[in-house]
Amino acid sequence: MKPAILVVDDDEVMRQTLSDVLKKRGYTVSTAETGGQTLSSVKEQLFDLILLDIRLPDMDGLDVLKRIKDIESDLMVIVMTAYSDVQTAVMAMKSGAYDYIDKPFELEELKILIQKALETQSLRNEIRRLRRQGGKKYQGTEIFGNSPLIKNVMELIEMISQTPRTSVLIQGESGTGKELAANAIHYRSKRANKPLMKINCGAIPENLLETEIFGYEKGAFTDAKGTKKGLFELANGGTVFLDEIAEMKSYLQTKLLRVLEIQNFMRVGGEREISVDVRIIASTNRDLSALVNAGQFRKDVYYRLKVMVIEMPPLRERREDIQLLANMFIEENNKELGKTVTVISEAAKEYLLNYCWPGNVRELKNIIERAMILSDDNEILPDHLPIELRKFQMDGTADLISDNADLTLDAAEKKHIKDVLMMMDGNKSRASRVLGISRSTLREKLKKYSISAA
Ligand SMILES: Nc1ncnc2c1ncn2[C@@H]1O[C@H](COP(=O)(O)OP(=O)(O)OP(=O)(O)O)[C@@H](O)[C@H]1O
Ligand SMILES: [Mg+2]
Repeated sequence: MKPAILVVDDDEVMRQTLSDVLKKRGYTVSTAETGGQTLSSVKEQLFDLILLDIRLPDMDGLDVLKRIKDIESDLMVIVMTAYSDVQTAVMAMKSGAYDYIDKPFELEELKILIQKALETQSLRNEIRRLRRQGGKKYQGTEIFGNSPLIKNVMELIEMISQTPRTSVLIQGESGTGKELAANAIHYRSKRANKPLMKINCGAIPENLLETEIFGYEKGAFTDAKGTKKGLFELANGGTVFLDEIAEMKSYLQTKLLRVLEIQNFMRVGGEREISVDVRIIASTNRDLSALVNAGQFRKDVYYRLKVMVIEMPPLRERREDIQLLANMFIEENNKELGKTVTVISEAAKEYLLNYCWPGNVRELKNIIERAMILSDDNEILPDHLPIELRKFQMDGTADLISDNADLTLDAAEKKHIKDVLMMMDGNKSRASRVLGISRSTLREKLKKYSISAA
C-alpha cells in the first residue's frame, strides 16, 4: 500500500507543489490549510507522515503538533520552519516532531527526509512486530508427505498462495499441521516478504484479544495512555493467522467480518476507518459448521471463510507418510541432538505404522525425539517407544487392561492427562482445551496426581 502523507500549509502554491511532487513519487497525498482541518483529518484518517508548516492562520503550529501527537503518539511529523527560527525547531523536536526542514528548501532534500522518516517508521513497526511475536520458535514451511491426501493439500496450498488475498479456513485435528500450512501459504505468496502475524484466539483473554487484533486509540480505556496498533495494522501487506478461530467471541467476529468483506476496521475506542491489505487465514480443530448450527459461531463469518477450506488429514488416514516423516524427524534430531541414529528396527516400525496417532504429526515428532534420546546406539527399538504404542499393537486399543493394572478411575484419569500433556508438548493451555477442562482444573489435577508438566 502507498504511504499516506498529509501536507499542511496555508500557502496554496506551496501546498499544490508539494502535493504534485509527492504524488509523482508514488505517495497518497492529502492536504490541509489550517490547524483545525489538520486535526480533523488526523482524527478521521490514518497517515504515515505529516508535513506540517509551523505557521498556520488559525492555531499555533506547535500546538497543532502536540495535539496530533495526542491523537496518534507515533505518527511521523516533519515540521517546516522559517529559516533561522532555531528556537521553534528545537521546540518542535521536543514536542515529538521527527525532524524539521527550513523554508525555503530544496525539494530533493525534502524527498530524502521523507524517505528516511518512512523507513524509520517501518523499522519501528518491525521491532514492534518482533516483540509481539517474540519467543516463538521459527517454524518450517515445508510440508512433507507422499500420500495422495497430503499431496492434495500441497496442491491446494500452491493454488491459494497464488491468489492475491483470498481468505482461507484450515481445519483439522490437533497436530495435523494447520499452522505449518498457514506458514506455507504465506511464504509461497507474493506477501512473503511482508509480515505474517499470528494470534491464538483461544489463549488470550477476551478483552485483550480485541486490542491485540484491532489496536486501540488513546483514551479507549483508563490505561490507554497512548495509541496501540493491532495485528491487522502491523501485518499490513502480509498475512494474519487467526489460530483457534472458534474461540473468538461473536462481537469480535462481527468486526472481523468487516475486515473480511471490505478490509476495513476501527481501533478500540476509535472512529477512524483504517484500511488494510491483509490475507486472513483462520484455523480450527473444531467442527465450525456444527458450531454454526448450534448458534455458537456466526454464519456470515463462516461462509466468508469457507470459500477456501483446507482439510488437514489425520495421520492415521495417511499411514504411508509415517515412515517418511519419521525419517525426516530423525535427520532433524541427529543435527540438533548430535545423534547418529540411522535405522528404526522392523519391530519398532511395526508399532509406528499401526498406532492410531491421536496427536497426529506432532505426536510422531515427539515420540521420535524421545526415542532418540533414549537410544544409545544407531537404532530405534521398541523399548524406546512409549508403552501406549506397544499396547495398541496388541489389541488395537490404546488402553489395554492387564492383570496387574491399577483399575481405579483415578489411575485412568492420571494416565490420560499425562498422555494428552505429552501429545501437546507439555503445553497446558492446549492440553486443557483438548481435555475439555479449564486450565485451573488441569492445574489442580496435575497437583493431585503429582504430574510434572515438562
Ligand atoms: N506434513 C508435515 N511435514 C513436516 N512436519 C509436519 C507436518 N505436519 C506437521 N508437522 C509438524 O508437526 C508439528 C505440529 O504441526 P502444527 O503446529 O502445524 O499443527 P496444528 O494443526 O497447528 O496443531 P494444533 O491444533 O495443536 O495447534 C509441527 O512441529 C510441524 O512442523
Ligand atoms: Mg496450531
